[in-house]
Amino acid sequence: MKGIVYKDFGAPKDSLAVEETARPTPADNQILVRVKASSLNLADYMRFIEPVMGKEMSPMMRNMDENVIHALGKVLGVDVAGVVEEVGSDVTDVKPGDEVFGATPMLIGAWAEYAVINDGDLYLKPENLTFEEAATLPAAAQVALSEVRLGDVKPGQSVLINGATGGVGLFTLQVAKAFGAKVTAVCSTHNIELVKKFGADKVIDYTKEDFTKSSDRYDCILAVNGYATLEQYRDLLADGGVYIPVGGMQQSGEARQRGKECFEGTGKSLRSIGFAQMKKEYPYIKELAESKAITPVIDKTFAITDIAEAIEFAVRNHPQGKIALSMNF
Ligand SMILES: NC(=O)c1ccc[n+]([C@@H]2O[C@H](COP(=O)([O-])OP(=O)(O)OC[C@H]3O[C@@H](n4cnc5c(N)ncnc54)[C@H](OP(=O)(O)O)[C@@H]3O)[C@@H](O)[C@H]2O)c1
Repeated sequence: MKGIVYKDFGAPKDSLAVEETARPTPADNQILVRVKASSLNLADYMRFIEPVMGKEMSPMMRNMDENVIHALGKVLGVDVAGVVEEVGSDVTDVKPGDEVFGATPMLIGAWAEYAVINDGDLYLKPENLTFEEAATLPAAAQVALSEVRLGDVKPGQSVLINGATGGVGLFTLQVAKAFGAKVTAVCSTHNIELVKKFGADKVIDYTKEDFTKSSDRYDCILAVNGYATLEQYRDLLADGGVYIPVGGMQQSGEARQRGKECFEGTGKSLRSIGFAQMKKEYPYIKELAESKAITPVIDKTFAITDIAEAIEFAVRNHPQGKIALSMNF
């Protein structure tokens, strides 16, 4: 089968190639999917950010690829939407011919004609979505749902989302609204109408106003993108409020290093989200999509053979929602 293989460290145009690779064989608890579409997540392209910007890849990123993900020489990609080709003997939820969406194990393996997915990491595709739309859901909508659940968001509560307009952010906004929250979305000027369209009750344009200076207080803060210090987030919380660092290297790093001391004894809490430990809720995500509680937003769709351009676009721009990939080799 054909796949996008990660040949070497460097910029995507030099390090990614379409190659013939062995079609994977599903284990007893796995499903082989003929991939129709995928989408980009930061986990796919964080390794390329420095090379695209003309910098050396950091030792931390090299170590991640070499010793944690073991990505070199492999097919990249996380999100999958496609058609079940074959199922392992223990699989009962889906059968050959079913249209499905899901995420590959260990953050690699999706950008090929076929991918294997663990049972429980995929489900029937929402019927109202195209393969490209469904492929935006697995990682990003799963993260969004998990953060809103972790924040224990209840109807009428006030939620601040910093970075409300990217792949994870727009799903976060929609899930928080589906849970009945009053949402304040932080974004730049050109995204104001977009977040209003998806239900933001209040918008803070970070190019004009510093949200950390607001006198409003929030029951939950979901920090998806952008940056503020731990102390700034903590002080914006109402009594008993919860801060959840979802993304942004710097704010996630600070939360790990000093989160405990910063929140201890304040009556407020910091709760961290880990993709690997997340409870998988694909059937509920399908329900949310079919009831139109969440609607994928695709900034741009690329053919998989244009993967280098897709990644460069993601790195150099602030995409609205997701970048989709059509799997036509
Ligand atoms: N995708 C996943 O599966 C996943 C899983 C776990 C964690 N995460 C984390 O979640 C974070 C967001 O991921 P993503 O896929 O949503 O990223 P993304 O799609 O690249 O986010 C882009 C958005 O970030 C906004 N943004 C950029 N700078 C900002 C700033 N200074 N303040 C507020 N917003 C800003 C931009 O909006 P404007 O144009 O309005 O600036 C843009 O719409 C990442 O750090 C990632 O590690 C992602």
